[in-house]
Amino acid sequence: MRDPVRYFDSLRQRYGPVFRMKLIGFPPQVVVSTAELAAEIYATDGDGNRAGALRAGYVPWLGQYSLFTNDGEPWWRHRKLLSPALHGRSIASYPELIAEIAAEDIRTWPLGRPFALQDHMQAITLEITLRLVFGIRDAEQLTRLRPLLLTLSKASGSSLLFLMPGRLRAWAEKSPLAMRLPFLPTTRTMKTSAAVDEILYAEIARRRDEEDSGATDVLGRLLQARDDQGRSMSDQEIRDELLTLLEAGLETTATGLSWAFERLMRTPEVLKRLQEELERGEDESYLDAVVKKVLRLRSVITGSGRLLDKPLRLGAYEIPAGWVAIPMFVLIHQDGEAYPDPEEFRPERFLGEGAQAAQKSFLPFGGGRRYCVGAQLAMMEMKVIIREVLRRVDLTAADPAPEPQRMWHVTLVPGRRAIAVAREQPLKRGPSTEEARCPVHPAPSE
Ligand code: HEM
Repeated sequence: MRDPVRYFDSLRQRYGPVFRMKLIGFPPQVVVSTAELAAEIYATDGDGNRAGALRAGYVPWLGQYSLFTNDGEPWWRHRKLLSPALHGRSIASYPELIAEIAAEDIRTWPLGRPFALQDHMQAITLEITLRLVFGIRDAEQLTRLRPLLLTLSKASGSSLLFLMPGRLRAWAEKSPLAMRLPFLPTTRTMKTSAAVDEILYAEIARRRDEEDSGATDVLGRLLQARDDQGRSMSDQEIRDELLTLLEAGLETTATGLSWAFERLMRTPEVLKRLQEELERGEDESYLDAVVKKVLRLRSVITGSGRLLDKPLRLGAYEIPAGWVAIPMFVLIHQDGEAYPDPEEFRPERFLGEGAQAAQKSFLPFGGGRRYCVGAQLAMMEMKVIIREVLRRVDLTAADPAPEPQRMWHVTLVPGRRAIAVAREQPLKRGPSTEEARCPVHPAPSE
């Protein structure tokens, strides 16, 4: 838990690209460290191998309908209901509000003295979740929800919770007696979850009454969504998915952003080229390459596995049913054969001729049918926020030494929470969406 990247790397060096791990209380696991082997695992997604079963620990607060924890038909029904709300045209109007939210937060940053960027990235991604995913507009509800959602996101991903023996945890999550024991990690999660539910169900009811068919936030789209039989989602289904999007999207995106700044501050030539490209404002390809390169260089999630329902042949090995097969992203992304000098921050690898090869071993969002449903939104958030930060402040690292990768709940975060020093600078790096709106020449949609 203290240094998982070095730990897994030492196992790879000792045992090669496929190795077995046995952790007490878990089924036997086989870890793979190449993109080819990962592709073989994810190719079995259609054959009944399961990801949701491995995330069963989340059911008590994400609920029985969550996309994250289900498999088979119930999972597929929800995947089809949820995906359109998070892709393409559904999120095309989001950059403007994302930039506004980022700008609001950047105005509060201390100038000229060190502060933790990770905390601010969390605040920005939380606000995006509240306003664009949950669609909350009422100031009072926003004030009540902010601390509750932060607490829930932190408490639910706590390592203590995952290390709690299964039976004790199952009892603690249901027992009124256990709810009175504040030292149990389950107590805070279940209490906060109940407080959040109260607000969310009221919000869902209010929005149903409103019947706004033109709503563009994710909640609005889920209220409109219909499955193959024309059925809409129940209140509980919607509540479960809203919490799922919070759980899966908040900490991950905030961490990806923190790493982006941690790496940019320590690689001046990349930062300089990015600033120049943004000032020119012609196209986004370099920014896109920077984001991809960061997600490869600093995996946010260590890996994502599948519980095998059938035996699986992996290279020279036959993996039995009942085992878990895990593509380990931290190892795949550091594969020296796929990426020579894997530690170098060279976004150019994702541009031009080498881009296709680089893309092949790029798995920050997993693969197969369970590929991260929020990947498009996450990439968009990261690009808009990086642009907004760089056009408003100059950032330098408080300490030039790279920050170590530490396990924080389920993500690998910068060990010092991305400490930076910000200095004001005139707004010159390309128009933000907010200023691009000209009252004399409105955009065609306006
Ligand atoms: C940089 C940010 C993010 C990273 C690195 C990330 C990474 C991942 C990974 C590795 C998986 C597992 C995929 C697999 O097992 O093959 C996943 C699943 C998922 N992600 Fe993300 N994610 C990010 C942002 C988001 C956002 C913004 C949302 C939603 C708003 C989201 C929602 C989900 C959901 C719901 C799943 C479960 C999908 C399923 O099981 O069908 N993620 N993500």
